Amino acid sequence: MGHPQWTILEILRWTARHFQEKEVSEPRTSAEVLLAHALNVTRLDLYLRHDQPLTAEELARFKTLVLRRRTGEPVAYITGHKEFWSLDFKVTPAVLIPRPETEILVSSVLEVVSQKTENRKQKTSTYWGLEVGVGAGAVIVALARELPQVRWVGVDISAPALAVARENAARHEAGDRISLLRGDLLAALQPGPRFHLLVANLPYVPRPVWEDLPKDIKEFEPRAALLGGEDGLDLIRPLVQAAPAILHPGGWLALEVGEGLAPKVAALMEAVGEYERIEKIPDYLGIQRVVRGRRRE
Ligand SMILES: C[S@@+](CC[C@H](N)C(=O)[O-])C[C@H]1O[C@@H](n2cnc3c(N)ncnc32)[C@H](O)[C@@H]1O
Repeated sequence: MGHPQWTILEILRWTARHFQEKEVSEPRTSAEVLLAHALNVTRLDLYLRHDQPLTAEELARFKTLVLRRRTGEPVAYITGHKEFWSLDFKVTPAVLIPRPETEILVSSVLEVVSQKTENRKQKTSTYWGLEVGVGAGAVIVALARELPQVRWVGVDISAPALAVARENAARHEAGDRISLLRGDLLAALQPGPRFHLLVANLPYVPRPVWEDLPKDIKEFEPRAALLGGEDGLDLIRPLVQAAPAILHPGGWLALEVGEGLAPKVAALMEAVGEYERIEKIPDYLGIQRVVRGRRRE
């Protein structure tokens, strides 16, 4: 970067090439998001102002971000933001970065709630939803915003993650409908059927897959948010078994799962014998991403 005066377009091209040479994933997108962050503008602005020169201060700011990205640090941890469900979420290294495919989990819950309210014509005044493993709070906040009739409880084993989720709930004006608790799966909850919805994107990466994950993920994102034991089911298995005890009859369980795990999770649900209408829902790549089932009435 010893160039006399860089324009936005020149620095973008240089950085994308540099990232590519250093084998940084998503080189062009990384360059764009980081430059937009350094200049405090949108990515679209970069193109609208492509021939604008950078000041020495802007260049220095950008250079710091480029150096961080070059080590493999994910863009979202560098900027402190990630978009999910068209909402801006704060993220820190204490939380998993929300993934676009997790939006399927949100839509698969919305689908059953609309069926349910349609069928029962709002017989119950308050619906209760539970998310286990809230992380940054992307799923629970998206659902709370979409479903104003539902009150939510969110659980996570990580206190620093809960602090981030709390901030995100407040940022999106959903804090008054979301109670957050620290606990291991359902241990922090009172026993008894209380919830109409139970949603979870628990750690599900099997150890052999985890060993081979790209550096950006394996070395930077919390291991406790990813690793699901030898077969990926260490957390999902006990949740599937325990969920009927806290779901109302007719209540739904929706779980995000990793590639290849959906048939095993559906079989676990079958084996419990208390679920019906068990379905596997694909994401936009055709991977069975969500397994959903209803507690028998
Ligand atoms: C894959 S992340 C999902 C985060 C967020 N819900 C999302 O979809 O982006 C899994 C979350 O589960 C939490 N977790 C891991 N083990 C847990 C347990 N035994 N009980 C409750 N939460 C747990 C992790 O701390 C992490 O925040």
